[in-house]
Amino acid sequence: MDYKANIASKISEATGVEWSDILTLMEVPPQKEMGDYAFPCYSLSKSLRKAPAIIAAELSKDTHLEANWISEVKANGPYVNFFIDRGHFSKTVLSSVLSQGQAYGASDEGKGKTIIVEFSSPNIAKPFHVGHAFTTVLGHSLSRIYETLGYHVVRMNHLGDYGTQFGKLITAFRLWGDEKALEESPIKELLRIYVKFHDQEKLNPELVQDARENFRRLESGNIEEVELWKKFRDLSLKEFADLYKRMNVSFDNYNGESFYSNRIPSVIDMLEEKNILVESQGAKVVMLDEYQLPPCIIVKSDGTTIYASRDIASAMYRFETYQFYKNIYVVGSPQALHFKQVFSVLDKAGEPYAKDCLHVGFGLVKFKNMKFSTREGNIVVLEDLLNESISKTYEIIKSNSELRNTQMSEAQISDIAAKVGIGAVIYTYVKSGRERDIIFSWEDMLDFEGDTAPYLIYTYARTRSILRKAQEMGYSTLQTNDADLSLLTSEEETAVIKLIADIPDSISRAASENEPFMISRIISQTARAFNRFYNNSNILSGTDAKLRSARLSLCEANCTAIRLCTYLLGIEVVEQM
Ligand code: ARG
Repeated sequence: MDYKANIASKISEATGVEWSDILTLMEVPPQKEMGDYAFPCYSLSKSLRKAPAIIAAELSKDTHLEANWISEVKANGPYVNFFIDRGHFSKTVLSSVLSQGQAYGASDEGKGKTIIVEFSSPNIAKPFHVGHAFTTVLGHSLSRIYETLGYHVVRMNHLGDYGTQFGKLITAFRLWGDEKALEESPIKELLRIYVKFHDQEKLNPELVQDARENFRRLESGNIEEVELWKKFRDLSLKEFADLYKRMNVSFDNYNGESFYSNRIPSVIDMLEEKNILVESQGAKVVMLDEYQLPPCIIVKSDGTTIYASRDIASAMYRFETYQFYKNIYVVGSPQALHFKQVFSVLDKAGEPYAKDCLHVGFGLVKFKNMKFSTREGNIVVLEDLLNESISKTYEIIKSNSELRNTQMSEAQISDIAAKVGIGAVIYTYVKSGRERDIIFSWEDMLDFEGDTAPYLIYTYARTRSILRKAQEMGYSTLQTNDADLSLLTSEEETAVIKLIADIPDSISRAASENEPFMISRIISQTARAFNRFYNNSNILSGTDAKLRSARLSLCEANCTAIRLCTYLLGIEVVEQM
């Protein structure tokens, strides 16, 4: 039941004002002493020719506003405050959570619509660094959020698998490549020879010539070069696949930049047909003055294409193939200008879907007091971050008998450490608004009491253990429909239930703002409120069987909420600790 909508219709009956107008005016008061909903009477004052405070006073006594689910209606200056009956509220919310389970918060708003979420998009032959992990986590989460809202989601990985650097790699590999090292640790080996190429090219300009020639041969489809490129690509993908598997991430489509490079002619045709391609210093460009943007180069003066042209080709392809409703690019904020140019070119060309393309940016990744044996430069690679997080989590669980069941086997501890350690990394990426820079610090991210994945997973496992214990004691827990949920009226119980009631709205907002943070925030508040309830109530030892049963239902609902939200963030929970 939607209390807000129902109150609005009662006010509408009482005043004769349109329901939808009332609904938009309604507020949630800043303090709970002011009730659950408030209606400001200012806007009625003109039509009713009365002061807002008088209208409020009269309305609060209007019999239209009575109902068994409203415990009190009070005038407060120009506002009418509504108090929802706590028992009724608890029953309404919890029975809907318990009956829907994981489907709680799901909707069909996206039915029949396709959303493309492009994310991750690492570069072949380059390390998968913590910035690529940021897009991977955000995109994975957004995909699940949109699916929950009924959209058909296509997960695309726009691999950086094209460009002159592949000419250099081919040259370098032929000179210094080590087959065995390549098989064992492809990216490490490719990086080694790439760095060597850069050191040597200053001394030996012929290398540059050779690399250019190799790239030309690659582009014109010469078998030997294409074979080598394929090998680099396949081996790199295999390494990325391991990371994706560890994070439960998957893609529907790995069309990288190379896939679009031979579609550039159709981009040029399209732009020429629309008469917007102009010559500038030998290059072909689209002027974007009317968008207050610098020109977008489509073809360079030497005839080669660039990153932007491949993105234009890719947007055209995506629309032809999927007729998307939205085409989302989860890419770091430093590329904002690039995407503005790409979307503006499409807009200038009159492509109707230009307005449905969206860049979802994010901030930088920083580290506090963390040391990694960095491989190249000071890039931190995701693999190291995950491994370190898992081993630190293992130490914490192992050395702290309060955090775990002491009967647990080594294998169980390792399994838990892996899920919690990876979850801790994922959570750090989504715990604040995505545009903000994020700071990794072991202290913060592995704090079992903090705003962290370990805290959520621990709360979940502990709640599961109460439910298991209850079952052992012979109390019914599953689908406790027979429980009198209206008994849950204490401050602590109501606080948890209110937060759980807000989850569906948080999911919608996470989608409309492309902010998984809406989910992490609501679930972290829910878990905290639940622990307050847990610490202050006798759940199993109470003597009142009815109340116990209702409280066990609240435990069930808490588990459903955590399972659902962590799933939406891409984090796995564990059944026990
Ligand atoms: N491969 C690029 C990089 O690592 C990101 C690609 C972003 N996606 C796009 N459609 N341009 O920076």
